[in-house]
Amino acid sequence: VSVAEKGKVYLVGAGPGDPDLLTLKAARLLAEADVILHDDLVSPSILALSGERALLMSVGKRCGRKKITQAAIHDLMISSARRKLAVVRLKAGDPLIFGRAGEEMDALRAAQIPFEVVPGVTAASSAAALLETSLTDRRVASKLIVFSGHHAAGEMAKQGLCPAIFAEDATVAIYMPGDNLSEMASTLLRNGVSGSLPCVAVSDASRPEARYQACRLSGLAHLILPPGPRLLLVGRAFESVLGGGAPVETASLDGVLELARSIHLE
Ligand SMILES: C[S@@+](CC[C@H](N)C(=O)[O-])C[C@H]1O[C@@H](n2cnc3c(N)ncnc32)[C@H](O)[C@@H]1O
Repeated sequence: VSVAEKGKVYLVGAGPGDPDLLTLKAARLLAEADVILHDDLVSPSILALSGERALLMSVGKRCGRKKITQAAIHDLMISSARRKLAVVRLKAGDPLIFGRAGEEMDALRAAQIPFEVVPGVTAASSAAALLETSLTDRRVASKLIVFSGHHAAGEMAKQGLCPAIFAEDATVAIYMPGDNLSEMASTLLRNGVSGSLPCVAVSDASRPEARYQACRLSGLAHLILPPGPRLLLVGRAFESVLGGGAPVETASLDGVLELARSIHLE
């Protein structure tokens, strides 16, 4: 039984890059879709899962290079669905996090096109997995704040929000941090954010070329960002990353089974 209905648009999360992190539903929709409109960040190994006859179009607007307008993307989705085609609008990570899905859903609603959202693994979750760090480790972090670097330090400083957002008990995930970390760091420090907060820049999370670099906020200006899509994570939860990471203990399956049995017997 096919999952992709004709005349419908699917806003699908492609995850951070590793095709194994796609949901089963996303993989099935890719295989069945007639039209796939995808962002630049979606990796080729994921696009390779599309059906042979699917029409693939890159509609990405990375780094401000405007190849296609948002209105043209809406038109493409709407006119394809009206022609009774199954349309996948494929977005990096989760489609509802920094992906203009709000505007796209509004356009689909206005045109009375049925649509469905298929969530994906967002970049912050993938970066946390790479760092083996809980974003909400209850010993140090009681909140997770996600925001776009476009609005980071400058806007927040204007509104006096810096210390509130970069609180001692917060984990902050900054998507699209930009290249000017030194300006962001100085704004935060000037506004009373602690210079000892750990910061980790993660690039290409979940991909073979994944890398990260860690420092304290006071040294952020000197951090050289790796190329590729990257994220800046800030917060006490990353203390162990700064310290070179906690040693990874290995346990044999025997030990785990023994433990499972003992728990079961209690
Ligand atoms: C337009 S936003 C889309 C975010 C996406 N919807 C998500 O949930 O991950 C693009 C930004 O996401 C981040 N990003 C996406 N994939 C990433 C990856 N594999 N590693 C690190 N950051 C990534 C980067 O900050 C990139 O500039």
